[in-house]
Parts: sequence; C-alpha cells; structure tokens
Amino acid sequence: MKLWGGRFTKETNQLVHNFNASISYDQKFYKQDIAGSIAHVMMLAKQGILTDKEKDQIIGGLNGIREDIANGSLKIDPTCEDIHSFVEACLIERIGEAGKKLHTGRSRNDQVALDMKLYIRDEITEIDALLKNLLSTLHTMMKVNTKTFLPGFTHLQKAQPVTLAHHLGAYFEMFKRDRSRLYDIQKRMNLCPLGAGALAGTTYPLDRNYTASLLGFDGPTFNSMDSVSDRDYLIELLSALSTIMMHLSRFSEEIILWNSNEYQFIELDDSYSTGSSIMPQKKNPDIAELVRGKTGRVYGALFSLLTTMKGLPLAYNKDMQEDKEMTFDAIDTVKGCLALFTGMLSTMKIHTQAMERSAKNGFTNATDAADYLVGKGVPFRDAHSIIGQLVLYCINHSTALEDLSLDKFQKFSPAFQSDIYDAIRLTTCVNKRITIGAPGLKAMQEVIAWNEEYLNK
Ligand code: ARG
Repeated sequence: MKLWGGRFTKETNQLVHNFNASISYDQKFYKQDIAGSIAHVMMLAKQGILTDKEKDQIIGGLNGIREDIANGSLKIDPTCEDIHSFVEACLIERIGEAGKKLHTGRSRNDQVALDMKLYIRDEITEIDALLKNLLSTLHTMMKVNTKTFLPGFTHLQKAQPVTLAHHLGAYFEMFKRDRSRLYDIQKRMNLCPLGAGALAGTTYPLDRNYTASLLGFDGPTFNSMDSVSDRDYLIELLSALSTIMMHLSRFSEEIILWNSNEYQFIELDDSYSTGSSIMPQKKNPDIAELVRGKTGRVYGALFSLLTTMKGLPLAYNKDMQEDKEMTFDAIDTVKGCLALFTGMLSTMKIHTQAMERSAKNGFTNATDAADYLVGKGVPFRDAHSIIGQLVLYCINHSTALEDLSLDKFQKFSPAFQSDIYDAIRLTTCVNKRITIGAPGLKAMQEVIAWNEEYLNK
C-alpha cells in the first residue's frame, strides 16, 4: 500500500521505487515504530481525537503485528516503501476502518525521527553493556598484573618501566570516557520529536508531554522544524563510535606487536587466531587486524553523515534517509568488535617473563639513575649528562648500568655509592612511582580500588 497515491496519475517507475525505498533497512526498527504508534494512539484517545474503542482496536492490531513479525508468521513485505507504510497497511488489513485513523496528526517525518531516536537509545544501552564488559575484563587482568613489569615506550623506544596493570589501566580510562560520552549523547538526545508533524506541528490538540513521557523521554522537543531535521545526535553517536574504534584500533596495534615473534609478550589463543593457506607455521592475529581495519568504515560513516547534512535547508529532506544504513552498519561494527576484542583479551596468554626481560634492558632505569644523583646533591642537568655518558659507555661495551662495578660508576661521578644498585633495580624504578596515576604498586592498588567502585555503581 502506498501512503500517497491520491495526487498521482501514473504508477511510479520501478527503478524510482527501488531507489526511494528504505524497507530493506528501516525494518530494523519495526518494534520502535510500533511502540511510537501505540503511544501516539493512546494520546489521540486521551485528547478525544479517537474513541477508546478505536484506540483499543488499533493497539490490539499493532501488538499482534509486532508479535507476528517477531515469531516469523508475518513476513515484512520487501516491496513496500518503508516500515511505516508496511505496518500501517497491515493494520488496515487486519482491523479495517479504525486502522486508517492511526496516522492522524502525524507525519512520517516526525515518525521516523522518533523511531530512529528510540532505536538509538536501545542500541546505546547495548553498546554500553559491551563496554562495561570490556572494562570488567580489563579490571580482572589489572588486578593480577600489578607486578608484571614491561617497558613503557615513547616514540616506540623503550622509555621507563611500567606494569601491565598500568598499561591496561590506560585503556580502562579510554573506555570509561567512551561510556561517559554515550551518557552525554543519551541525555542530550532524550527529547521526543513526535507531534512535530511534517515540519510545522499540527492543528489537532496533541498532548506532546504525554507521548514524551509514555516513551520515556525527558520531554518534547521545542521546535517542530528542528525536530524533523535534527540528526545531531547521530553525528555525535558516530563520533563517539569512531572514538571507541580508535581506542580499539590502538589496542589492536599493540596486541599485534606484542603477539609478534619479535616481542612475544603475549600469545593469542588458538580459538582467536587464524592460519595461512600456504605457510604452515603461521598463526595470525586476524581479529585484532580486522578491528583495526574496521575502524575506517566507522570513521567513514561519521564523515558520510556530516557531508550529507551540510547543505540541507530546513526542514526534512529525503537526503536524511541516508542516515540509517551507515549508522546501523557503524553500530553493528562497533558491537561486533567490542565483543570479539573482549573475548580475544580474556583468552590470550601473557608471557610475564618476556615482558620483564624486555623491561630490564634498553636502559629503562636511566631516569632513575639520574634521579639518584639528584638525591646525592648533583643538579639534575649535570646528573642527566653524567648518566648519558654512562649509557654511551654501556652501549659501547655491550653492558647495562646495573652490571657496572661501583668503581666504574665512580669514574663518572664521585657521588655514586653502593646504594646505586638498589636505586636502579626494576622493582624500585616502578614502585617508587606512587603519585596518583603512576605505575607503583601503592598507586596502582588505589586506582584498582576506584575502578572496582566504578564498576559496581
Ligand atoms: N524513509 C524515510 C526516511 O528515512 C521516512 C520519512 C519519509 N518522509 C518523507 N517526507 N518522504 O527519512
């Protein structure tokens, strides 16, 4: 059934119909479409625009349609224009005259704006649960790795030693921020567009506060033109999803490096790796690579929608139909990546000894050696230069700071004493760093306790 045949004298060209139709993807929100219609009808009856009998008939019909689609006995007709026309046509077919009154005081423009908001609200809840799951996995790993040492890098050059708990804690912060970005969006978008009509409201005495509260919104939107043409929340969502992907992608990059033959810091589980068709020895980190790769398509969705929206005059334009496929794809991509990444993390083996070995070489204790001299009264700039010379000496003689004799140390500065060895031990280097947010055990335990509280909230 077409919702708009009256003023036309010719059939729609088949290619035009196909090009225009959105049912192949907007059927994703049939439940939300029906929920919106039920709220609309309850309001119409409350306002005396429909009788209670009509309301009951319509709601009964809509509930039946929802159940039958869910249990598979009603197939969504792919030749319909969109999910809105499909549901309305089914309703009229099932209940007759009363069904024709459903669309009173409503346009597909406010209807689709509502459906999309309802759908996104549900999806945000699901993405949030996946993020929380990932955070719980990180938290568990952090608790058992406060003494797992590994080098911290800057410029991908060994810098100072940290612990795995600390390293994972950085990602904990990122995904925590990702969750709070989703809350912000959820809060800002939670105003109901229903009742905005095509663009200029309606002449019926609609109670917009009532439909808004029935549907769990904080209230109605304040401008009907904006209500039908606002896609800001989708742009914000795609931006938040892009940031989640950027975080997952950085993490994936590290997993790939750590899993390489050169690092061997971790080993991915067989169940999360794949092989090569030609090289029998290979075990590839495809999941991490795919997560990194799929980041591109989520960024693409953000840029695509920003571009679609940039030239649109008020109010609704059909261009806006393009918001759906890319948003759905981005959401599905992020959900898949979060779930798989969490599984990959929780099953991987951690080679603590390889990490520690790596943390011990590469002069990761050079800063601490300089700080030691400062403690003995040497100005920091001089201390920096003395340790620099010592490091150069060690490089030239293939040795490490901690393997030099005290004699040798004292040749570079008389301030060195026998306590230098304790000062540059790996455990000292890490555990002396106990300012808030630092990797030292005491600081880390505090953060882990805060994280625990955060997860229990
Ligand atoms: N499928 C349309 C969309 O997604 C629904 C709104 C149609 N409105 C219209 N005026 N043609 O935007």
